[in-house]
Amino acid sequence: MRDRQSIHGSWASRWTFILAATGSSVGLGNIWKFPYIAGENGGGAFVLVYLACIGLVGIPIMMAEVLLGRRGRQSPTNTFRELAVEVGSSRRWAWLGLCGVVAGMMIFGFYSVVSGWVLAYVVYAAEGSFVGAGVDQIGALFAGLLADPQELVIWHTLFVILVAGVVARGVTKGLEVAIRILMPLLFILLLLLLVYAMTSGAFGQAVYFLFHVDFSALSWNAVLVALGHAFFTLSLGMGSMMVYGSYMPKNASIGGTVLIVAALDTLVALAAGLAIFPLVFLNQLDPGAGPGLMFVTLPVAFGHMDGGQIFGFLFFAMVAIAAWSSAISLLEPVVAYVVERFRISRLEACVILGGIVWVLGVGALTSFNIGSQWSLGGMNFFDLLDFLTANVLLPLGGLLVCIFAGWWVGRRITREELSMRSEWVFTAWFFVIRYVAPAAVAVVFIANLWQKVAG
Ligand code: TRP
Repeated sequence: MRDRQSIHGSWASRWTFILAATGSSVGLGNIWKFPYIAGENGGGAFVLVYLACIGLVGIPIMMAEVLLGRRGRQSPTNTFRELAVEVGSSRRWAWLGLCGVVAGMMIFGFYSVVSGWVLAYVVYAAEGSFVGAGVDQIGALFAGLLADPQELVIWHTLFVILVAGVVARGVTKGLEVAIRILMPLLFILLLLLLVYAMTSGAFGQAVYFLFHVDFSALSWNAVLVALGHAFFTLSLGMGSMMVYGSYMPKNASIGGTVLIVAALDTLVALAAGLAIFPLVFLNQLDPGAGPGLMFVTLPVAFGHMDGGQIFGFLFFAMVAIAAWSSAISLLEPVVAYVVERFRISRLEACVILGGIVWVLGVGALTSFNIGSQWSLGGMNFFDLLDFLTANVLLPLGGLLVCIFAGWWVGRRITREELSMRSEWVFTAWFFVIRYVAPAAVAVVFIANLWQKVAG
């Protein structure tokens, strides 16, 4: 079997891949989104469904993405083309990769805006803006930030520069160096915050909220939200995991590696919940506060606690780091493709693509101020980017990855690439990729669209 090498570089070891893939998956999805959707959907039962989605659909699809990437050793677009040709199918599979390129830029557009808020909050926290403040005051602070396009542009620009700067330096000098510094920092901060939350007095209440399973609190919609989020949090459906897989050493076992990444991602989501909810309960705030949970509710809690100023700062610094390492993986597949396709340097690709995502982000941030009246189907531009990616492009991408790996690339190549010790485990995986995962994703995809169109 010939082994190709990626022209972009490769990870030093299996552990670098694990750190990088964990850096990709652990992001705003875990710390901002997971706690608030768990809070909105009633806690325990939702968490259980979410865990099932990660195990049954998320992990098998992540394995498929990594194995395709490592087999093709190119950007997702060219990997699809190359592998399709190898198995005698149509070169048009490359379109699937292009779909991912577009999805990646669109996600980046709104991801960067929210990350910008986080950067602003790092400064607010350090300045002591939360100390003693009530819900009204912090609500006004947040509303003031959203209403100020100039300030939003500054933070958004800073974030784009941080991300494009790392990607421009390449896989080894950029991504790998950043990941090796950021990920340990992220875990130390999370641990610190967890210990702080444990000693706060309401830890038991948070554990009860997240793990007490009450199925009467679960709605059909919550199941849809859980599966959609499993996709988003594991960075599936647009090529992030494929491109990271294309830099993975040949001898590393994909199954075991992916299991570690998914487990770390899940642990961080649960840890974020266990760090946030005790503070929410202790201050008699609302766990179902929605997207404002992290930007309004939590700062109020920090403002009323001993050491809240420093821990508030550490918390938002941690979120910024998580968002940074995730956004890197949104830009990398796009940059890799453009470098391969147009034969320009990484730096040039980063400047051009950074410019495009910057414009998209500026469009997204005006949704909260000067452009708020601009809407399509009841959604402003920010919501539209979120909706089109999370509910259309990502599930569609994931579905087609399953079909490509399970039905086109097929048993022989996937088996060879996964080289599992247990034949039984491989057969189970292959069954899931061929039937279970595509069916589950298709159901959620259609139900989601149906809901949007009908309601
Ligand atoms: N998983 C990241 C988070 O939880 C976001 C992310 C990075 C992503 N790359 C992705 C989401 C690719 C979907 C597809 O914040």
